Amino acid sequence: MDDMSAMDDMKIDGILIDQSRIAERVKELAARISADYGGKNLLAVGILKGAFMFFSDLIRLVEVPLFVDFIVSSSYAGDKTTGDVKVYSDIRHPVANMDVLLIEDIVDTGISLKYLRERLLRMSPKSLKICTLLDKKDRRIADVHIDYNGFEIPDEFVVGYGIDYNDRFRNLPHIAVVKKSSRGFGIV
Ligand code: IMP
Ligand code: MG
Repeated sequence: MDDMSAMDDMKIDGILIDQSRIAERVKELAARISADYGGKNLLAVGILKGAFMFFSDLIRLVEVPLFVDFIVSSSYAGDKTTGDVKVYSDIRHPVANMDVLLIEDIVDTGISLKYLRERLLRMSPKSLKICTLLDKKDRRIADVHIDYNGFEIPDEFVVGYGIDYNDRFRNLPHIAVVKKSSRGFGIV
């Protein structure tokens, strides 16, 4: 083990959702989406970077034809939301007449998703629904309806399965909790 992975181990409190529970839930969500989007023009839009792993696992199990696109967006610095949502790279696929499904990693205050949802609605999709792997419901500030939710989780800062802390830990195959004592130092 090198120094970096030893340091990473010290920052993780434990596994919140293991790989098999994630896989099981992703399968259930994909089955619901497949049932709901038969005969529609599904455009699955992943919100990067956090949703990349969930997005690819989910859509490979969706059994209806679909298009794929991405938005690169962020509002976080360390473990705090800045409340200022930035879009670094926008969706390129035409949206009019499409049944858009926004796929997010985690909804926390709801500010990012509310902003991205309203931004997308201005592009006049035929329909717009939201799917998230994780929902920290207790932290909600902006009201946003979630159509497909993987897991409701407590108010903890989590990483893994695509989700980061200062761009680290995205490759963990499970969802883990970051120790409170190791947050906010910026040395990751
Ligand atoms: P919101 O705007 O507060 O709902 O924040 C949503 C975004 O913040 C998510 O898409 C994540 O990228 C990030 N985020 C929120 N909570 C966490 C967390 O526990 N770990 C890592 N990123 C998080
Ligand atoms: Mg995100």
